[in-house]
Amino acid sequence: MSNCRVCSATVRKFFDFGRHPLSSAFLTPGEADDDREFRFRLAIGVCASCTMVQLMEEVPRELSAHRGYPYHSSNSTVMRKHFQATAEGFLATELDGPDPFMTEIGCNDGVTLQTVRDAGVRHLAFEPTGVDGVRTHHAFFDAAAAREVRAANGPADVIYAANTICDIPDIGSVLAGVDELLADDGVFVFEDPYFAEIVDRTSFDQIYDEHFFFFTGRAVHFLAEHFGFELADVERLPVHGGQIRYTLARAGRRRPTPAVEELLAEEAARDLTGPTTLSRFTADVARIRTDLLDLLRSLTADGKRIVGYAATAKSSTVTNYCGIGPDLVPFICDTTPSKQGMLTPGAHIPVRPPEAFSADYPDYALLFAWNHAEEVMAKEQGFREAGGKWILYVPDVHIV
Ligand code: SAH
Ligand code: TMP
Ligand code: ZN
Repeated sequence: MSNCRVCSATVRKFFDFGRHPLSSAFLTPGEADDDREFRFRLAIGVCASCTMVQLMEEVPRELSAHRGYPYHSSNSTVMRKHFQATAEGFLATELDGPDPFMTEIGCNDGVTLQTVRDAGVRHLAFEPTGVDGVRTHHAFFDAAAAREVRAANGPADVIYAANTICDIPDIGSVLAGVDELLADDGVFVFEDPYFAEIVDRTSFDQIYDEHFFFFTGRAVHFLAEHFGFELADVERLPVHGGQIRYTLARAGRRRPTPAVEELLAEEAARDLTGPTTLSRFTADVARIRTDLLDLLRSLTADGKRIVGYAATAKSSTVTNYCGIGPDLVPFICDTTPSKQGMLTPGAHIPVRPPEAFSADYPDYALLFAWNHAEEVMAKEQGFREAGGKWILYVPDVHIV
């Protein structure tokens, strides 16, 4: 039993993945032997009152905040273009007044703010990790950090966050910070995985320690009002397996667009967080585990070689929930140097550089970076030309 991080009502568990390691806690081969790997209960529930979908257990920020390896948003061409277009959109709309100011929470490598900077617009990132080339306040975003930044820079016309707000369990501290910093007519815009897409694609691997909230239009609508804001617009985004960009304004400042009402109606019509939808989702998750294990076992029994492609955070949920170890997937290739030579959390599958894949193509590659499928398959034409096939498990287990 746990309490909603938005409204404090009871959160009802609807799926339990068991005890999982942290998705970014890669181990040296020596560490894997001593059996002291940190684990927490990875389980997901829905608030009985405000319907916010959230993890049942929170991982302390000291443990989860540091991925311990560099993550670069702009490594993906698709994402780089997405963030550049996002910045251009803001420049043409919210930032077209006199001396505008944009801030971003969790800017990562600064890909969005670089475009804003290049347009000569004042900007500032809240980012605890190092960033080059954009002005950065090296701290977690909360009321105190927001107050400090406002005192020095004035109010923000845009506060933007991508793939960050869903990671912060203390969402009240985020909204308190937005209240401190946002200009009267400013907007707080954030984009994160959409729970309906997770249900529709059975992309249960979006559920891991770092994703605390799984937003819906209905829950964000409540969240906004609960903290004195209003949900002014929603926009569906095709990136990362289906997201929604939510635009919040101070209450009464903007007339909500028709898209808001449409999304709320659509979610109500399908009873998105109702018991029927949730039990169908959990049955689908269990079916994918069975199908994936059956496939990997039968291919292995037939003497086929399978390699994992990309040791993503999502892969931790898949390997640990399904019980996929080095017996079925002998190694995972990954471009991140600091993951190479390590073992994946929990499942202890060795991580090797991409050359280990291309030097001796396997028969099958299990694609854990399915959200980048197009980009990866285009890059790995040689694999297919050599007769290799991809295994995907979203929206169901299939071979391409
Ligand atoms: N916006 C990027 C990065 C998302 S990863 C993208 O979409 O690709 C989340 C980022 O948020 C990380 O860089 C992390 O360091 C940062 N972060 C996490 N919690 C934060 C907080 N409370 N305040 C500011 N940044 C935070
Ligand atoms: P994340 O999705 O959990 O952030 O991790 C992405 C990981 O996937 C990162 O370690 C890099 C790896 N990766 C590859 O190795 N090759 C690829 O083509 C892509 C898209 C990702
Ligand atoms: Zn609630």
